[in-house]
Amino acid sequence: MARAVKMGALLGAVVGAAPPPVRVGAWVLERPVGAGGMGVVYRARREADGAVAALKLLSPGVSSGRARFLREVALLQRVDHPRVVRYVDHGVTDDDQAWLAMEWLDGLDLAARLRKGPLEPTEALTLVMEAAAGVGALHRAGVIHRDLKPANLFLVGGAADGVRVVDLGIAVDEGGPDSRLTTTGAVIGSAHYMAPEQIYGRATP
Ligand SMILES: Nc1ncnc2c1ncn2[C@@H]1O[C@H](COP(=O)(O)OP(=O)(O)O)[C@@H](O)[C@H]1O
Ligand SMILES: [Mg+2]
Repeated sequence: MARAVKMGALLGAVVGAAPPPVRVGAWVLERPVGAGGMGVVYRARREADGAVAALKLLSPGVSSGRARFLREVALLQRVDHPRVVRYVDHGVTDDDQAWLAMEWLDGLDLAARLRKGPLEPTEALTLVMEAAAGVGALHRAGVIHRDLKPANLFLVGGAADGVRVVDLGIAVDEGGPDSRLTTTGAVIGSAHYMAPEQIYGRATP
């Protein structure tokens, strides 16, 4: 009952009244596990072999959503690092919703972790160093994340040394013509966590 209410609230808030498809590509959606600016993330299982993934389904009606989502997919495919969530699969549903499947992570994101209380200083140091290793791998691949914040750092097993950088939803290609996906003069990111230079539109590694 509690889960049904929570699912309804999540889906109602983010996707609107229409229920999402249960089957997405080779995957069957099991339950929603998170939601952000771009869509809803589900735990999903591949019918053929039972493999589990985190499947992000783009919410209809996100402005420039499809182009940005495809960019997220392309940038994620470029990175292969133990501290960055891994790409698994992507596609478009019969009713034209774009989706991205990623390595399934068991644990909780840092925002959820911090709601339980502060980290020990040594844990915090480990977390920052491990997350920085992931961000460094992104930078070597020419990817600037632009939305580093607790909800986008996932702690596998709840452990600081199991951190994964997630969510390239507003990341940009360092060398690419990405500004076309942003309204001229608009600043995107999360205000409390934004680097000062990002506010001026010059985010770099
Ligand atoms: N690979 C994953 N495994 C398990 N949970 C995940 C995974 N990726 C994201 N999540 C959860 O879903 C939330 C939203 O995912 P995110 O990629 O940040 O989407 P959005 O672009 O909507 O913010 C995250 O904060 C996290 O709690
Ligand atoms: Mg996010």
